[in-house]
Amino acid sequence: MLETRFTKLIGCKIPIQQAGMAALANPELAAAVSKAGALGMVSVAGFPPETVTLELEQVKKLTSNPFGANFLIPGEAHEDLDELHEPVKAASKQARLVEFFYREPDASLIEIVHGEGALAAWQVGSKEEAQAAVDSGCDLVIAQGIEAGGHIRGKIGLIALLDRVLSSIDVPVIAAGGISSGRAMAAALAAGASAVRVGTRFAASEEAGAHPIYAKAMINSEAQDTVFTEEFSTGWPNAPHRVIRASLEAAKAFQGDEVGQRYMKAEDKWVPVRRLQPIAVTKQVKGSIEAMPHWAGEGVGSIKSILPAAEIVDQLAGEAEKLLKRWT
Ligand SMILES: Cc1cc2nc3c(=O)[nH]c(=O)nc-3n(C[C@H](O)[C@H](O)[C@H](O)COP(=O)(O)O)c2cc1C
Repeated sequence: MLETRFTKLIGCKIPIQQAGMAALANPELAAAVSKAGALGMVSVAGFPPETVTLELEQVKKLTSNPFGANFLIPGEAHEDLDELHEPVKAASKQARLVEFFYREPDASLIEIVHGEGALAAWQVGSKEEAQAAVDSGCDLVIAQGIEAGGHIRGKIGLIALLDRVLSSIDVPVIAAGGISSGRAMAAALAAGASAVRVGTRFAASEEAGAHPIYAKAMINSEAQDTVFTEEFSTGWPNAPHRVIRASLEAAKAFQGDEVGQRYMKAEDKWVPVRRLQPIAVTKQVKGSIEAMPHWAGEGVGSIKSILPAAEIVDQLAGEAEKLLKRWT
């Protein structure tokens, strides 16, 4: 069913990749997605190598299916990419796919991934960046449209971007941005993508552990309630992203510098959340949740309830397959 270059390369059944989503992309979510036949991803950025290993071992305890590891590399942190070498090596020993996002593609990181026998991918926002990812040695490229939730590299809509990227590179392309329904998944696959990358829909899964206030905001929002902005910039400026507009308005209206606190697993302590700080709003966050970033892509209107991740995979794949069969 729905066999593509992605499913063959990864060794999974369903051409869906769950996005890396900081603390929301935890081992439990990744395992549930992989167990359901798609590709689950664990976000491991910022962890020392030992913690990377522990996080990924947790997935292995829950499923023997392939899964991946995501490194978010903001422009401001990690000025020196050398400090990522050991964590990336640790991830590449365990994961089938190791991928990177926000920085421009870097061949030294891809070499480390390949050295340990894993596949490498980079999420990009333009044809030129897609080419740079291939030149750096990536086995897969993720093309991210401006509809996406979270931080955004894309400057144009996903279908227009796929048109540009698919005609310029030969490696399998994963489509990202606004895909929260089987209909959107079918559209991306019909356009030539080998898989879809789904973020927001999985942020609203049981396993992701989104804070109930953030989860409710996703359920109650439509595409037009999201906004493309650079304002959640405390500690990471000049990085466009998409959030639910009401959370941005609440953050701007918030009086004071500290909106709450969040639990840092790696350090086992609570730390302050600053106003307009880009963080993942999980249940391990407390304070004025309304004024923290409610990340969401334009597909948010399709989310009607919080579901187990396996049900989300089944719904998306089932509906996409039905739609694609109509044509053949
Ligand atoms: C809550 C949230 C957190 C995100 N964090 C990350 C991240 O840590 N690393 C990453 O590569 N992408 C991250 N992204 C972007 C996704 O990789 C992906 O491009 C996006 O979710 C696709 O659009 P969609 O949300 O409309 O499905 C995040 C997206 C969301 C919604």
